[in-house]
Amino acid sequence: MKVLVIGGGGREHALVWKLSRSPRVDKIFCAPGNAGIAEIAECLDIKADDIDSLLNFAKYEGIDLTVVGPEAPLTEGIVDVFVKEERRIFGPDKSGARLEGSKVFAKDFMLKYGLPTAEYKMFTSYLHAEEYIRLKGAPLVIKADGLAAGKGVFVCKTVDEAIDSLKVIMKEKAFGAAGSRVVVEQCLKGEEASFMILTDGKTVIPLATSQDHKTVFDGDKGPNTGGMGAYSPAPVITKKLHATIMKTVIDPLMKGLKRERINYRGVIYAGLMICDGKPFVLEFNCRFGDPEAQPLLMRLDSDLFDMLKATAEGKLENIQVSWKDDAAVCVVLASKGYPGDYEKGRVIKGLDEFTGKMNPVIFHAGTSMSKGKVVTSGGRVLSVTALGKDIMTARENAYDAIEKIHFQGMHYRKDIGDKAIKIE
Ligand code: AMP
Ligand code: GLY
Repeated sequence: MKVLVIGGGGREHALVWKLSRSPRVDKIFCAPGNAGIAEIAECLDIKADDIDSLLNFAKYEGIDLTVVGPEAPLTEGIVDVFVKEERRIFGPDKSGARLEGSKVFAKDFMLKYGLPTAEYKMFTSYLHAEEYIRLKGAPLVIKADGLAAGKGVFVCKTVDEAIDSLKVIMKEKAFGAAGSRVVVEQCLKGEEASFMILTDGKTVIPLATSQDHKTVFDGDKGPNTGGMGAYSPAPVITKKLHATIMKTVIDPLMKGLKRERINYRGVIYAGLMICDGKPFVLEFNCRFGDPEAQPLLMRLDSDLFDMLKATAEGKLENIQVSWKDDAAVCVVLASKGYPGDYEKGRVIKGLDEFTGKMNPVIFHAGTSMSKGKVVTSGGRVLSVTALGKDIMTARENAYDAIEKIHFQGMHYRKDIGDKAIKIE
């Protein structure tokens, strides 16, 4: 079978890596991929949101399954286009991808179907939003409605901060049309966790739990990033809490999707805040988390190709999913300046030692080749991911590996896994 993976981050490297282990998969293409992916797949010079070129390639090459990594092509309707042309593709259609593509849609959906979430109000007028912020008082969370590459959410401790964020979104239009509507939301306090399911619209398979680290500095300080590290499982999600999440979040979510006539096929990622033992939904994503996919896929025992193909075909009822007992920890190595403007083109040293190794695995994100050397080309550069008998061991394995890797300006969090160890 021939597979095309769309995207070029750490998540896509992990998807390609795991797919390449399937006996059913003969050849993998990746658009656009990165220097690490190029070692195990053929990378294409096609952007992840160039839907016409991706479809033409899939037709020309006779691709059996296309797997969409990032949200942008999903919200643009890549799945609708492929399905119309009878091409097998993994991911939700445009109507399903609205769960991530519009915060207003997601919040209204949660309210309508009774999912636990923070209180909120939606505004299209700057003046009304400002008035409401002054009335409510801080802390508050201000969110741009549309996609903003993970940068459209502001957790504000003061009213001034909230109004400044509102200005950035609605007046300066920092995220363009994504900021023509805003959600002003109650600020929740608690422990975050990522809860992903695989669904074909009928069957639901919960995936292993995980936890991201959103901010750039240790101790959850500094600005938000795409994610600086993750571990799986997330011990904050106990067996009892897992059952509560299935009952109070996933069941009404699936019922709501049915009512709205959305035939969702793909991953649904619920970003949760656990407050006093109760789950609240902060957001939905319509794809695997990045970096959560990296530890998750290293723990996966089952054949990923079978899982994704069955999902795309609506035959998930035939699939059993099993996980290694081992825990996994992923630490992201980032470029100097990230999550702001960052440096590029720095030579990465120490990667050769890990080539072909099963543990740890160095997943690439912002890397490319220059004059025969692997160099940095993005903000998040590498996801160093390791297995271990528990989180503490996996964590040690990941940080030991990092000792051997270097590029100028490299920075990373030193506390990935600490929270889990406290709970474990
Ligand atoms: P989102 O993209 O909606 O997940 O928001 C990004 C991050 O902002 C989340 O991972 C949380 O850390 C934080 N956040 C979002 N909504 C809230 C909320 N209502 N209360 C507290 N923190 C939030
Ligand atoms: N790690 C957060 C995300 O994928 O959105």
